[in-house]
Amino acid sequence: MGEAVKLPMRRGFGATDRIDAWWKGPTAMAIYLGIMVVYATWRGFMEADFWLFSEFGRSAGVQTMAIENQGSHVLSPLFSPLIIPGGDGLGGPIPEFMWWMSPAMFILIFPAGFRGTCYYYRKAYYRAFFHQPTACAVSKPWNEYKGETKLLLVQNLHRYFLYAALAYLPLLSYDVWLSINFHDPVTHAHTYGISIGTLVLLLNVIMLSGYALGCHAFRHLVGGGSNDWTSSGMARLKYKLWNFSTYLNVHHKEWALYSLFWVMFADFYIYACTMDWWTDIVLWGGL
Ligand code: FES
Repeated sequence: MGEAVKLPMRRGFGATDRIDAWWKGPTAMAIYLGIMVVYATWRGFMEADFWLFSEFGRSAGVQTMAIENQGSHVLSPLFSPLIIPGGDGLGGPIPEFMWWMSPAMFILIFPAGFRGTCYYYRKAYYRAFFHQPTACAVSKPWNEYKGETKLLLVQNLHRYFLYAALAYLPLLSYDVWLSINFHDPVTHAHTYGISIGTLVLLLNVIMLSGYALGCHAFRHLVGGGSNDWTSSGMARLKYKLWNFSTYLNVHHKEWALYSLFWVMFADFYIYACTMDWWTDIVLWGGL
């Protein structure tokens, strides 16, 4: 067996022969992902009635999960499907000792798990937060590399989180539908309308569809096991789906980053409207 040949690479934290600004990407990513995680956590806990958030959300007697004051129901994607612990709907069976939890806490595990195990995000946060690696041809604080072993085997759950993510798409589409249905609370008259909130939710579904349908696991699911694209209608359909997924997959990074921003923005938009900072203007129809 031959001897290991050492790469001609400088050693020491951040040492490198690179002359470009290699640190900009991981630093920007750490800031971006950090802000998104803090925001989602803050919003999730806000509706959990902690004293820390007593000026906001349910603690202050205001629900900040959905805009209701226009006669429609514009629900934040962070709280969809809406599970109110102990309520009449989906949260009815939740035992009383868990009623302190926010509706978001019951569901965020799935989108968070999907993004946390995404192939693109793994690359991004391994570099941004853990220096595994720091960057190409840049020395890192430690030298060993064990790959995705031991605890990181949990990343293999990505394909299962994909199924959950795919199930979200019709749920979030249903929220768009609810947002265009207006009901007068006094006369019970029903009509249709479109508000800015509707467009925000619609764009959210489009962005998440672009992200989920371009997922590497989805691409494999629809075409990975096939070596026949032409012999039957099903084979041709699979080929079309695989091609479409490939088309989205080329820009998976952009779909991943922009869709994350838009989910958070959609939630913030709804939060701002429920706090009366902004108004959800009805652009067409409505009451
Ligand atoms: S690889 Fe990114 S969502 Fe599946």
